[in-house]
Amino acid sequence: MKRTTSSKAKGPSGPRKRTATATASVIESAKPATDDRDSIVIFDTTLRDGEQSPGASMNLEEKLSIAKVLEEMGVDVIEAGFAIASKGDFEAITEIAKVIKDSIVCSLARASAKDIDRAASALAAAKRKRIHTFISTSPLHMKHKLQMEPDAVHQAVIDSVSHARNLCDDVEWSPEDGTRSDHDFLCRTVESAIKAGARTINIPDTVGYTMPDEFAALITMLRNRVPNIDKAVLSVHCHNDLGLAVANSLAAVKAGARQIECTINGLGERAGNAAMEEIVMAIRTRNDLMPYRSRIRTEHIMRASRLVSAVTGFQVQPNKAIVGANAFAHESGIHQDGMLKHAGTYEIMTPESVGLMRSTLVMGKHSGRHAFKSKLSELGYELGDNALNDAFNRFKDLADKKKDVYDEDLIALVDDAVSRRNERIRLTALKLTCGTGVRPRAEVTMAVDGEESSATAEGDGPVDAVFKGIGKIFPHSAKLQLFQIQAVTQGTDAQAEVTVRLEENGRTVNGQGADTDTMVASAHAYINALNKLLVKREKTAPAALYAQR
Ligand code: KIV
Ligand code: ZN
Repeated sequence: MKRTTSSKAKGPSGPRKRTATATASVIESAKPATDDRDSIVIFDTTLRDGEQSPGASMNLEEKLSIAKVLEEMGVDVIEAGFAIASKGDFEAITEIAKVIKDSIVCSLARASAKDIDRAASALAAAKRKRIHTFISTSPLHMKHKLQMEPDAVHQAVIDSVSHARNLCDDVEWSPEDGTRSDHDFLCRTVESAIKAGARTINIPDTVGYTMPDEFAALITMLRNRVPNIDKAVLSVHCHNDLGLAVANSLAAVKAGARQIECTINGLGERAGNAAMEEIVMAIRTRNDLMPYRSRIRTEHIMRASRLVSAVTGFQVQPNKAIVGANAFAHESGIHQDGMLKHAGTYEIMTPESVGLMRSTLVMGKHSGRHAFKSKLSELGYELGDNALNDAFNRFKDLADKKKDVYDEDLIALVDDAVSRRNERIRLTALKLTCGTGVRPRAEVTMAVDGEESSATAEGDGPVDAVFKGIGKIFPHSAKLQLFQIQAVTQGTDAQAEVTVRLEENGRTVNGQGADTDTMVASAHAYINALNKLLVKREKTAPAALYAQR
């Protein structure tokens, strides 16, 4: 493991001490924010925009577990899905609405009565609910995508927001492609949306095109020109096509926005959305310059990041800010020396503040259930009894095969279990013959919806033979787009973590599997991807969702 901070290393977890050169105005703005006007509403759209990223699909149970973690983290609004998109989305919003009590549960809806009705019925059981309706307002989108005149779009805004307000008190409205919209038209639609009852006006940078200063000026322009703007909370929703989603969101906050839409790990359409962990840690760490506060309990960040990564099969790049494996690692001797003398030399926030705990328990073959449970909890996992038993049995198997069980092994083991829970297709057994002078051959046994069958296949290599065997039992037309193996730890007894990407009719899914046996891990990853494909097959193609009629 690369994290090499010592127990002496106690960096600041909140705002840092200002240097002697800090100006009076900076010192003034560093006062703790106690006023509601300084509260930032965190709107998480991992389960909606995040799930729209190619390859990221989640089943009901996975969405529920993410929603619970988001609520525990203190997320204000959870956008649980797009109710009309599929039966699966509708069910997920319905179930999340039943169990989430503290956060507001939200569904997206286009500007049509049918969409809005579907969103309202999915949200029926929610203690606190919101309908988020949107329509494009940029000349490009209106002309080519919607094929509607601006006046008709303006009327659709009034009709859709009024309809949503008849069904739900809390309505959010978004002008899609807001940053490329004509300012006069944007002001006109925002004013009408507020008049029709929208309480939150969200300005999306749908294609990630804007720059921080430009976006701040747009927010200022709306605040100056829309007469009833004080009746709504201004929100922003930034995409990361130019890598500016977080910078743009923060610039907008400085200009008066008070809700930020974001996702865990920056998941989302194309290059993704603004990453929640970066936003909240930037506000927390640079509170001298950003004197705002959110309700997010940042110690839950790592747990949420790992869960989202495990469920979607999207691995976090090692150098990703806040949650990457190297974010708190210090490789160079000079840095390590500095860290030992004072953590603040190279760390601007503590690992603990994002939920990275320094290891206190070493796990091995003789570790008991209680120690195992404490270790998981230290790593940010709280499992129910069944899941804990299952994970403990798998840990025992692993400890039999592997002398040292590292934190990374346990994370891979639990993530693997999470991603395979409730799968319709399961691997029951795998036997392989391969080596020099023999044609690789796999004997695969799988259960599909509880019914077990076996197949034998030969291939150009052992992986090919395994995947062909799986294809014999579960025939499909998906094409393999990516096959990647990574060792979880060092050493020849390390677990292999395999990622498989499949594509079928324009839909992509990522599957993951981990095991000390690379072929078993590969089979699990392939089957995990097939299970995700089953979920994704039920979804309407994203392009169709965005066309208005
Ligand atoms: O990016 C976007 O414009 C959206 C809207 C639906 C808010 O996701
Ligand atoms: Zn978006």
